[in-house]
Amino acid sequence: MAQFSHLFQPIAIGTVTVSNRILSSAHGTQLVDDGLPNERLIAYHLERARGGVGLIVLEASRVHPSTVQSARQLAAFDPRVIPAYRRLVDALHAHGVVVFAQIVHQGRQISGLAARQPLWAPSPIPCPVFPAHRAVPHAMDHDQIREVVQAHAVTAANLKDAGVDGVELHGAHGYLIQQFMSPFSNQRSDAYGGSLENRLRFAYEVIDATRAAVGPDYPLGMRVSGDEFVPGGLDLQQMEVIAPRLVARGLDFLAVSVSTYAGSSYATMIPDMHFPHGPFVYVASALRAALHAAGLRVPVMAAGRIVDPAQAEQVLAEGHADMVTMTRALIADPELPRKAREGRVEDIRACIGCNQGCVGMVHMRQPITCLVNPTAGVEQEWGLQTLQPAARRKRVLVVGGGPAGLEAARVATLRGHRVALWEQGWELGGQLAIAVRARNRVELGKLAGWLEWQVRQLGVEVRLGTEATVESVLVAEPDAVVLATGAVPLLPQIPGCDGLPLLDVTDALCNLRQVGRRVVVLDDDRHYKAAGIAEHLADLGHEVAIVTVRAETGADVPTVSFHGLRHRLGKKGVRTLSYHDVARVEGRAVVAVDDFSGRETVLPDVDTLIYAGLSRAADELARALRGRVAELHVAGDCAAPRRALEAMREGHAAGRAV
Ligand SMILES: Cc1cc2nc3c(=O)[nH]c(=O)nc-3n(C[C@H](O)[C@H](O)[C@H](O)COP(=O)(O)OP(=O)(O)OC[C@H]3O[C@@H](n4cnc5c(N)ncnc54)[C@H](O)[C@@H]3O)c2cc1C
Ligand SMILES: Cc1cc2nc3c(=O)[nH]c(=O)nc-3n(C[C@H](O)[C@H](O)[C@H](O)COP(=O)(O)O)c2cc1C
Ligand code: SF4
Repeated sequence: MAQFSHLFQPIAIGTVTVSNRILSSAHGTQLVDDGLPNERLIAYHLERARGGVGLIVLEASRVHPSTVQSARQLAAFDPRVIPAYRRLVDALHAHGVVVFAQIVHQGRQISGLAARQPLWAPSPIPCPVFPAHRAVPHAMDHDQIREVVQAHAVTAANLKDAGVDGVELHGAHGYLIQQFMSPFSNQRSDAYGGSLENRLRFAYEVIDATRAAVGPDYPLGMRVSGDEFVPGGLDLQQMEVIAPRLVARGLDFLAVSVSTYAGSSYATMIPDMHFPHGPFVYVASALRAALHAAGLRVPVMAAGRIVDPAQAEQVLAEGHADMVTMTRALIADPELPRKAREGRVEDIRACIGCNQGCVGMVHMRQPITCLVNPTAGVEQEWGLQTLQPAARRKRVLVVGGGPAGLEAARVATLRGHRVALWEQGWELGGQLAIAVRARNRVELGKLAGWLEWQVRQLGVEVRLGTEATVESVLVAEPDAVVLATGAVPLLPQIPGCDGLPLLDVTDALCNLRQVGRRVVVLDDDRHYKAAGIAEHLADLGHEVAIVTVRAETGADVPTVSFHGLRHRLGKKGVRTLSYHDVARVEGRAVVAVDDFSGRETVLPDVDTLIYAGLSRAADELARALRGRVAELHVAGDCAAPRRALEAMREGHAAGRAV
């Protein structure tokens, strides 16, 4: 605790006091039905409240029907939400958490196709990022502006009536308030466009109307993007002028984020593992300094990949911010604050910035989850309080030390079983131990490291260099067996490939010396197997081309991360042949064929061809043992080769099932 003296200081935000400086910022969860918080959402936030977070900002609620595109989004402009919000807030208050709610009009950033209505925006300029959003918006007239301003006030008043402690206006991430503020999206020539004062008019009116609706003592703040990172948009210098004006208008706090929907800026909204820790703390720091210079000492929140308590403490101690946003860190480990307070830092399961389970799922309109914490989003079934001791203590044998096996061993041991884990290799982590050899994917190793630490701390008997066979398993006579033997890579048959080295991605990563200077990567994976090695090799100075049957390489990478990936690969000179497959090799030339036209493109003088794609389930043991052991569970890639997200979930399920 002494080492986190700033982190666990209480702080006043307007008239409320938050018990510590850790906040979970607004994040959509898809745990909403018919515009209302559901029981899953309550359980989700309760888990984090029990873990000791100080402030929870509930996910953005829509303020007006013109910004509704799905019943899976909160809609607090409708007073019927009040009882549902009240249940949620009462449950959280019981754990001493302060609860704010974010409110938003997304302007042009919704899908007109999904919403089936024209998009409202300051100007008829489509979103530059998403085709589905790329409808030309309707430029709001003055009546509509008045209506939406008032809608913020009504929504905030409803939330206040529901017992919510404060409201955050969403003026960040390229949504309507920001769209009005920024010349990137506002080209009006009336009183709401042109000069800075005109562009701020909408924000001022929203603040004024909301303040009038909630009263002078109710905490009201705004989230802003401290830099849009786009030419022609708002940069930090301009925001240093704007932020004090917004706060002076009547705000009690300023939550600082970055980005808008444009090119690589989009990737900064939810920065993934390719960003360093806390890449935008400097932005919060600069806006805080601008506020102080103007005599405005309201709390400022920093955001973006603040992942561990030591880093968070440093942000506060060095005066960059008054509170630290640790949203994904808390998705990954809801108990982070309690563990930090108790000095159990090494027990914290770190967010690795993969974006796969959280925003990756939410953007696919699936309930939120987490790669490293499969209990996220299913707290009713798998929350911390649901892990019950097993009725009978069994001798459990887990085969395979990848994520599925390690998670199964961890959970089974927590339930009181006596667990042995056999791994044929000499290190734990399975395929993750290979994936991390790509410099840009090293964060994946934190998961393997945490799992290994946990199973060793819990006393799992780990045997490395021990291959399980049917005989050895039967001789061991376990009460239950969990098979997590993973997958083995497949190599395609490519005509003419005898002369040119064809390596599977795992071979290439394990034996980089085999990889020549000019490389072609065949992307049959659509995720980071291809993109990760392509970027890694480009970083090492190789000349890399990717052939993919999809429109883009890494097409299944979560969209926020995908934009960063495309930007980096482009900058590093990686060439992509879209909608192509490798037809054959002629000498050192790789011949790629366009899927639609059949036209061929020759990639000459290739030194190495790398296949990043399909694997085969290593399920021989599973097939041979079925019916021959008392209890058998199969988890992860050995059931069907997929990703670590699924391996962790199935490993967890197996640990609960034995
Ligand atoms: C280059 C690369 C990049 C990847 N990137 C990502 C990513 O970014 N995100 C993601 O979600 N997924 C990624 N994956 C996929 C992910 O790593 C796998 O889906 C995941 O590791 C599967 O976990 P598992 O525990 O089921 O199997 P594995 O990780 O394959 O582990 C199985 C373990 O079982 C051991 N074993 C097998 N047979 C026996 C036996 N008979 N006795 C004892 N031990 C045995 C193996 O040695 C191995 O250690 C990547 C994979 C690769 C290769
Ligand atoms: C699943 C998910 C949904 C999000 N939805 C919102 C949102 O509704 N409003 C918002 O301001 N930010 C949203 N964000 C951004 C987060 O509030 C936060 O700024 C971002 O995750 C970076 O902080 P972190 O590194 O602590 O997670 C979302 C993030 C995630 C992961
Ligand atoms: S899914 Fe990945 S990025 Fe999201 S919270 Fe979990 S570890 Fe962090």
